[in-house]
Amino acid sequence: MPFIGVPERCGNLKNHMLLELKNIDFGFRQEAPILKGFDMNVAQGEFLALLGPSGCGKSTMLNLAAGLLLPLAGSVKFNGAYLHGINKNVGYMTQGDTLLPWNTVAKNILLPLELRGVSKQERSDKLEHALKLVNLVEARDKYPSELSGGMKRRALLARSLIYSPPMLLMDEPFAALDAQLRETMHQELLNTVNRLNESVLFVTHDISESILLADRVLVLGGRPLRVLEETTIPWGKDRRLDVIRDSKAYTALESHVRSLLRQADAVQYPATARGV
Ligand SMILES: Nc1ncnc2c1ncn2[C@@H]1O[C@H](COP(=O)(O)OP(=O)(O)O)[C@@H](O)[C@H]1O
Ligand SMILES: [Mg+2]
Repeated sequence: MPFIGVPERCGNLKNHMLLELKNIDFGFRQEAPILKGFDMNVAQGEFLALLGPSGCGKSTMLNLAAGLLLPLAGSVKFNGAYLHGINKNVGYMTQGDTLLPWNTVAKNILLPLELRGVSKQERSDKLEHALKLVNLVEARDKYPSELSGGMKRRALLARSLIYSPPMLLMDEPFAALDAQLRETMHQELLNTVNRLNESVLFVTHDISESILLADRVLVLGGRPLRVLEETTIPWGKDRRLDVIRDSKAYTALESHVRSLLRQADAVQYPATARGV
């Protein structure tokens, strides 16, 4: 299947903005506005991590990018075109387990192609590719209840990737996994998105995850939400996470970002509000 609407993705168009949030106002009815005049961009091929305290508005940003929520003011553009409804060019991997329990792994992964009316032959080809990509060939006929936590996350990843969306939205996708499995998933995710030249907007509250995976990290906090700090991660695309984890540069960067996040927490939950 051709890549949807983003012919440039195979080229090396630096600074081509795939997702542009401009001057966004957003809030839920009874709450103070979450976003006011908020700007954010994700470039073609970029891995951007959003790091911030719980409740600051990270999932809201993903929902705006997915077109599931509409801004009260301002604009969301995807690949240069204004977004007015559901964004069909993103794969959205939500925090929860959204595999259908009555379907096998294969049927779950195929769902987005069935919804798009893709032909049987193409579905079959893409399924084989996706199963190999996430190492689930042996588990294709299993049901979600028969899968380990890691296998479920891999199935969800395959489902998000199967129609080759130019961008993945990921909402704390590995939060429920144990440390070792997370490490494996991190490297697998990077290998996969790099191979496909995907852009990723990745939400997490885990500092090490953000600096291991991302090209750029935004530390967010406050209401309305602000970018408290923007950090460019220096590892490059072909990073080996096991090597980085043992490096002094990683330790230094982690402690730097930790102090930024502490400031974000203080902005989000001022001492009076916490009763401290
Ligand atoms: N559907 C909703 N209705 C009303 N308020 C909501 C809804 N979804 C989220 N919120 C509120 O919006 C704020 C931001 O939520 P969210 O984006 O989920 O934060 P995060 O993902 O950073 O934890 C929170 O205060 C949350 O309670
Ligand atoms: Mg959230």
